[in-house]
Amino acid sequence: MAKSDKKAKKALKDAQKALERVLKNENAFKDAVRLSVRSFAHDIKNPLNALIGYSQLMCHGTIPPEKYLESAEVIDTAAKRMLALCNSMLEEDWDDKNGTQGPAEDEVQDFEVADMIGEVETLFQQTASDRDIDFSTRVSEDFPTLHTVPQHIYRALTNTLSNAMKFTAGGGNVSLKAEMDGSGDAVLFVIRDSGEGIPATQLKEILKPYKTTVSARGDEGTGLGLPIVNQLMLELGGRMEISSREHQGTKVTLRFPKTLQAAA
Ligand SMILES: Nc1ncnc2c1ncn2[C@@H]1O[C@H](COP(=O)(O)OP(=O)(O)OP(=O)(O)O)[C@@H](O)[C@H]1O
Ligand SMILES: [Mg+2]
Repeated sequence: MAKSDKKAKKALKDAQKALERVLKNENAFKDAVRLSVRSFAHDIKNPLNALIGYSQLMCHGTIPPEKYLESAEVIDTAAKRMLALCNSMLEEDWDDKNGTQGPAEDEVQDFEVADMIGEVETLFQQTASDRDIDFSTRVSEDFPTLHTVPQHIYRALTNTLSNAMKFTAGGGNVSLKAEMDGSGDAVLFVIRDSGEGIPATQLKEILKPYKTTVSARGDEGTGLGLPIVNQLMLELGGRMEISSREHQGTKVTLRFPKTLQAAA
């Protein structure tokens, strides 16, 4: 083969490889964007369900008029949560799909956990009572004011509680506890249920997107809840731990620093 032919062949091969790399990056980016859009839609569903549930109670006259104000407040809070999610999606940094830059500075705020625990308790109260599940929440007395991303905490709590409610049969119980970690620098949210539990083989795969099972009650999901919670915890400099045994319930621990260090 002539020297110039060899050169041309090599140049063609290099160009082909470069093109493959660009296509691969583009596909990875598209997948990441697709997953991000689905994650937002997924997390709008929890407050949206509460909004529909409580407005139906009012429309159908299932609750007495003196309870209307309470229900209107739940609807108002849920709608504001949805609006906040929509806003953060509009402000999403689509060039940072690996989340390497961490949360934006204005997302990090001081906030009192007790208020949010009260909010999620109200959000799931109706489901718990409809399903005959004993639902309790507790915040330890020494629990500090947090400086982190409230919206991440809200999404993590609603996703883990929605799983606990989904996979626990009537007569069972679900609890949420907020307490200090022994070290004093981190805080814990512990979500326990007495439900179906997760088989060991499934537990290994559980953080991959779209791994889902239908609950005994027949509820279907998309398999995005836990991967979302895991990602949110990483963004807060924390982690999620799951311990579970088939037919013996599940314990999810969300552990993260009480103060999120701003990105350098
Ligand atoms: N508390 C739990 N008890 C029993 N199984 C659970 C529990 N939490 C999660 N799982 C199992 O892990 C799977 C994945 O949970 P994940 O929240 O990611 O998705 P999903 O609940 O199926 O769907 P989605 O959250 O997208 O509506 C569930 O389908 C279920 O098999
Ligand atoms: Mg789920």
